[in-house]
Amino acid sequence: DKGNHRHFMQKEIYEQPIVVAQTLRSYLQRLEGKVALPIPDFDLSGIKRVTIVACGTSFYAGMVAKYWFEQFARVPVDLDVASEFRYRAPVMEPGGLMIVISQSGETADTLAALRHAKNEGQTIAAVVNVPTSSMAREADLLLPTHAGPEIGVASTKAFTCQLSVLAALAANLAKAKGRLSADEEKQIVRHLAEAPAAINGALAYDEAIEGMAGAVAGARDVLYLGRGTDYPLALEGALKLKEISYIHAEGYAAGEMKHGPIALIDEHVPVIVIAPSGPLFEKTVSNMQEVQARGGKVILISDYDGIEAAGDGCIATITMPKVHPLIAPIVYAVPVQLLAYHVAVAKGTDVDQPRNLAKSVTVE
Ligand code: F6R
Repeated sequence: DKGNHRHFMQKEIYEQPIVVAQTLRSYLQRLEGKVALPIPDFDLSGIKRVTIVACGTSFYAGMVAKYWFEQFARVPVDLDVASEFRYRAPVMEPGGLMIVISQSGETADTLAALRHAKNEGQTIAAVVNVPTSSMAREADLLLPTHAGPEIGVASTKAFTCQLSVLAALAANLAKAKGRLSADEEKQIVRHLAEAPAAINGALAYDEAIEGMAGAVAGARDVLYLGRGTDYPLALEGALKLKEISYIHAEGYAAGEMKHGPIALIDEHVPVIVIAPSGPLFEKTVSNMQEVQARGGKVILISDYDGIEAAGDGCIATITMPKVHPLIAPIVYAVPVQLLAYHVAVAKGTDVDQPRNLAKSVTVE
């Protein structure tokens, strides 16, 4: 039931404040200021290396998580798309944690990667949305997302719930490795607990984003740029747009622009720049200005400070609430989803059932 929404995708975008809160509830003891796992006595202290494997949007959640695991827990992370993982003869030593991420829990390549890693003696953690799925059953550590059923083929609420679980897992691992003081733990819990309200703040920009859709809907190609954890978001934004609007879109690390893709820039290519104010902001903005100098039409997604500093010269700006960098990927996913959604609606494509795509890919 879509309720009063026009599409399941729209409904699911709007459910995010609730389902993210619902998911975080199993991973945070908010009053105590502590992170927790659904299996409280699961011992992570011996984990020496993490391997993350997933497909599509779930892979991009994994890509964000790589930054978090390395930053907080200082544990090295390998990351692969599931369809490539087994073909590179991955080296998996004892003491490794394999994390698979999947909305459906049935994606064939991800499931095959799980089984391969299990045979190699890895501990398996599964971040899945369907608790009865094959991956949920075969994992040693089940880390559910509580997004509820996701009907729209383009993944939205599952993604932000995956990010929430992975942030909590990174904090748990950091704690188990003795790398998180009680005060740091408290801060992380506080920031994560702010995510649902911040997502609400992002949703408040919906109408303004709808108003920008026309500027993108006529384009043949669109670029998305980001740095740090905003780089996977750029990839996710491009994926979302191409899936449902059929516009060719690419996500790039902002600093890679001048190594090739800048050749594509002219006044017909909208460039979506994802850049919350913070330590990486200046660098991304200078990449953005290189685009503008070549006639590129930039839509800047940032917070008030970022828009104040760099919004001039953009064809449009999207103002997000000011949030801690830890939860920025969870919050900035929302405008990226809304933009793809409104562009698809403007183009009149089948938003919930895009051509050639299936909700669950059960063949390799
Ligand atoms: C993108 C999308 C797909 C899935 C991918 C993995 O919007 O829906 O890219 O993310 O097929 O699916 P799961 O997460 O079920 O393994």
